[in-house]
Amino acid sequence: MVLTLTVVAANQAISVSADALSHTQRVSAFLHLQIQQAGGWLPFSVWMHHTLYAPGLGYYAAGNAKLADAPSTSSSATTLSGDFITAPQLTPLFGQTLARQVSEILRQTNTLEVLEFGAGSGALANDLLSALHAEGLDVRYNILEVSADLKQRQQQRLSEWGDRVSWLETPPTSFVGCVVGNELLDAMPVELFTWSDQGEVMERGVVSHDAGFAFLDKPASPQLAATVRARMPALPGYSSEINVQAEAWIHDLGRWLTRGAALLIDYGFPRHEYYHPQRQRGTLMCHIQHRSHDDVFLAPGLQDITAHVDFTAIAEAAQQSGLDVLGYTSQARFLLNAGLPQLLEAYAQQQIEHPEPKQRAQTYAAVQKLISEAEMGELFKVIALGRGMTLPLSGFSQSDRSGQLAAQLAPPV
Ligand SMILES: C[S@@+](CC[C@H](N)C(=O)[O-])C[C@H]1O[C@@H](n2cnc3c(N)ncnc32)[C@H](O)[C@@H]1O
Repeated sequence: MVLTLTVVAANQAISVSADALSHTQRVSAFLHLQIQQAGGWLPFSVWMHHTLYAPGLGYYAAGNAKLADAPSTSSSATTLSGDFITAPQLTPLFGQTLARQVSEILRQTNTLEVLEFGAGSGALANDLLSALHAEGLDVRYNILEVSADLKQRQQQRLSEWGDRVSWLETPPTSFVGCVVGNELLDAMPVELFTWSDQGEVMERGVVSHDAGFAFLDKPASPQLAATVRARMPALPGYSSEINVQAEAWIHDLGRWLTRGAALLIDYGFPRHEYYHPQRQRGTLMCHIQHRSHDDVFLAPGLQDITAHVDFTAIAEAAQQSGLDVLGYTSQARFLLNAGLPQLLEAYAQQQIEHPEPKQRAQTYAAVQKLISEAEMGELFKVIALGRGMTLPLSGFSQSDRSGQLAAQLAPPV
């Protein structure tokens, strides 16, 4: 049976099954209970954590995480499964290009250790393993995945690699090699804040309201208020996010990455763009059935909720924990620097020898999406953080924008 839910914020109708509807009702009941047990108000970050990761219920934890497969083109239309599509799901050329950078890092560290966080469907792991194997690098591929459901999906997808792939429950105490995370930081729960008319920093939390949920603001803790004040000027009515968890994750990385580099790819900006006065409603975004909107309370458990990344905060956290920022640039520039043109040339040659017009069209469309400024090429960035790395990384050989991350936002008072 198919029922219809209406996405009010996007003013678009989406259809969900009766099973999905009863799932979101269960997730909502769980969230109401959490709010009640917390005394009637939950920090948004806690609410977001439960809606995405509560075991057996959250979007990423209950078999609902719908990472789309590459678009399939029928004669009449292009169809997309799932809720959203990520770069590794689009084309193996993404992973193959990344593999060139990973291999450089492995050679520099003289190791064969890769550690991926948040491996989703396992597509990137598979592409990296294949490309590195083709180069003669039979790596040990470690994955840390918080979602038990996705871990299972990864185990199925990567079974052919046998014991080359292993899953960690917690980060290592010490690691030498290459760390990878694609769209990891944007999936971490964020704190929401808003500036009151009186210039006070308020923390946004969630309360039960009628049968659903609503925001309720409270004066922020002194620590959150000080962090917000240090990052942006007071702008009454302005709301945005701080990804405390992502910064803590970077601090943690600084403790266990003994030597090597982490490549983190995500959508976001440096701080002066993140807290731009015109971005008054922040960057929170929901994804369901390839529609994006900002109604975070719609269908808990059935939709992804994300926030863009403040790359200045990531760079600062890295530096505070003793890591170097080895490079920061757009995804398009990174892929072009790292060797996508050469891989495309080889692909074109292969297509001359064994033409597959439909697959070729899909591949070129995917590459276009990866590097076009209007699509993922500019909004997505790549940052490399490392320790003990002396040679420059080729992915940042041109148009390294690390300097932008040092720019301070708050104008002189
Ligand atoms: C948006 S998905 C991206 C999946 C995949 N990397 C891709 O690009 O297709 C986010 C992934 O990060 C995982 N995740 C979120 N927080 C995590 C954390 N702290 N440690 C490890 N994985 C995490 C989620 O369960 C999910 O697999």
